[in-house]
Amino acid sequence: MKAKIVLLPGDGIGPEVVREGQAVLEEIARVHGHAFELSTHPIGGVAIDAHGTALPASTLSACREADAILLGAVGGPRWDDPAAKVRPEQGLLTLRRELGLFANLRPIRVSPHLAHCSPLKAERLEGVDILVVRELTGGLYFGLPRFREEKNGVVRAVDTLEYTDVEVKRVVRLAFQLASARRKRVTSVDKANVLETSRLWRSVAIEVSAEFPGVELEHQLVDSAAMRLISSARAYDVVVTENMFGDILTDEAAVLAGSLGLLGSASIGEGTRGVYEPIHGSAPDIAGRGIANPIGTIVSVAMLLRHSLGLESEARAVERAVDAAIAGGARTRDVGGETSTEAMGEAIRKHLQRNAS
Ligand code: NAD
Ligand code: IPM
Ligand code: MN
Repeated sequence: MKAKIVLLPGDGIGPEVVREGQAVLEEIARVHGHAFELSTHPIGGVAIDAHGTALPASTLSACREADAILLGAVGGPRWDDPAAKVRPEQGLLTLRRELGLFANLRPIRVSPHLAHCSPLKAERLEGVDILVVRELTGGLYFGLPRFREEKNGVVRAVDTLEYTDVEVKRVVRLAFQLASARRKRVTSVDKANVLETSRLWRSVAIEVSAEFPGVELEHQLVDSAAMRLISSARAYDVVVTENMFGDILTDEAAVLAGSLGLLGSASIGEGTRGVYEPIHGSAPDIAGRGIANPIGTIVSVAMLLRHSLGLESEARAVERAVDAAIAGGARTRDVGGETSTEAMGEAIRKHLQRNAS
């Protein structure tokens, strides 16, 4: 098949991990006879440096014309001045919003080979298979007004937490659809004991659940969910939650997997176009050293092949290759090994070749 794929390496380790994601795409194209047209565009801090904006118009229009987008990470200490007018993160948020990517799917699985990398007891990790569906274009991240002001010597800052029933319904419905094809259990996470938006969220979740009689719905408050995610991870199937809660809970859930560098995600909307992104950031503490784990990006490539291009068997081949490389002993430093980013990518690609022949 023919497909246009935009690469947005971004900042810090972004270019290092996207390079490996790109190599996997090229290998899949070669082995399976696809024509992927790849183009690279600036976003985040590097775009601010070159163009004065975190999401240049040329990057956005390339993304609009693409079938899928693979993103590394944005941000870093160089652009972290709290008084800065433009921030790298704005580029990513605007991209998600402009493309209507209202849901971010973050699967959390634990490889038995890496269970020892988690500080949790191995028996608590057995069989963990969670899909977090994070709302991505609403809530505190986008609510207006948002400002900072000084009055009578007091500085005040305001962010706004806002959701409409339409925004909640579409993401909760997607969570139910996904749960229907899994273990048929949705956990809706909110703070309904305090927040009005959460009470709306909860009533919409109940309303949507009526459309899916075969799927069980439970509600959890976010504070206790944060605890249970660690203490009873196996109990979860699909977790659906608002933007900010989902951001925080998924970095926490990375502890189950053993490293933040292992988790990928798909940011999707109504159509098939999506942005595929590891859940981690630009990791300034290890950037430029060639030691970042590219697996989060490579499993995001698998999601790209599946959701945006409809290439299910190629997606599985990538997932199997990742598992096989891990089983074969390749380990980057975050999971206790010495394999470089590049060698990890190579180990994975080697299994792609083997699978095909
Ligand atoms: P981070 O996710 O970049 O790093 C947290 C820790 O995890 C660090 O110790 C880092 O070394 C480690 N880590 C992350 N990814 C790794 C990988 N692939 N392999 C090995 N180790 C890895 O979070 P942070 O340090 O809080 O944020 C740094 C910058 O990244 C900030 O500017 C933040 O805004 C940005 N950020 C961007 C995204 C994104 O672009 N999607 C996501 C999160 C954070
Ligand atoms: C993520 C990141 C982003 C978010 C930041 C960089 C805007 O933390 O993708 O998880 O909070 O959505
Ligand atoms: Mn995050």
